[in-house]
Amino acid sequence: MAEIAREAGALIMGHFQRVSIEYKGDADLVTIADRQSEELIRERILSRWPSHDILGEEQGLVDTGSEYRWYVDPLDGTTNFAHGFPVFCVSMALERRGALDHRGERIAGVVYDPTRDELFAAEKGSGALLNGEPMRVSQTRDLAECLVATGFPSRKRHKNPNIYFYHQLTLRTHGVRRAGSAALDLCYVASGRLDAFWEFNLNPWDTAAGVLIVQEAGGCVTNFAGGEFNIDSRETLATNGFMHEALMREFEEIFAGRGLEAIADPRAYKRQVSGSANP
Ligand code: IPD
Ligand code: CA
Ligand code: CA
Repeated sequence: MAEIAREAGALIMGHFQRVSIEYKGDADLVTIADRQSEELIRERILSRWPSHDILGEEQGLVDTGSEYRWYVDPLDGTTNFAHGFPVFCVSMALERRGALDHRGERIAGVVYDPTRDELFAAEKGSGALLNGEPMRVSQTRDLAECLVATGFPSRKRHKNPNIYFYHQLTLRTHGVRRAGSAALDLCYVASGRLDAFWEFNLNPWDTAAGVLIVQEAGGCVTNFAGGEFNIDSRETLATNGFMHEALMREFEEIFAGRGLEAIADPRAYKRQVSGSANP
């Protein structure tokens, strides 16, 4: 898997800052790099494991009823990529599906960041590695000391309530980052660079590898209410484990509209600036 992800990462880097943009519709971009990367990954998987099924973001699912299914995001962070902002990756996970219930369990995952040459990897039950070295989640136990991250979709943004969560957690934590690659955000929780990450409405190809990597690094991933995370979950909350309860409480309060801090009024700011030389 690592070999394939590295090869796809090199392909993407070959297009970086030379890319032409196409829109799939409503600000949802796809570049030639997304398409070629998925083509390459599918070809490499099927040449080694011809009976496996693959769900990739660009080409969808080929389902032959195989016991094994791959989840492929050939380029996570396309908007960054298209703007020349160097935060993007390749994400691949392998799932084994139960013969009777077809319940899938992710058994391996890799996320490769070609801009930093960082390969995050995990195999179920064997821990998580960053460039071959074991990695663990952070030890932070205090919300005010947490560095956390989130993301916003490129489509249907007006239906997404996340700006309230962003605002509230910006005030309650050490800071919220919004770097634009959910798979890397998850890997940064796994490696202790972030203490937590959340997002609404991610897709299976965004989370399949990163969630396993967080879990294998000792972290915890659930929906916002603490329920089991599954591949179709529309809510992803990943933490170092120590911060899980506290963040779930914050989410409960925000959903209930309790304790919301008022957003500073820009008109009041303008009035203050125009009334003072040094606001
Ligand atoms: C997106 C990125 C982004 C997240 C979006 C995803 P894409 O994936 O992971 O960080 O906020 O929800 O759709 O489209 O770049 O593969
Ligand atoms: Ca993605
Ligand atoms: Ca993608």
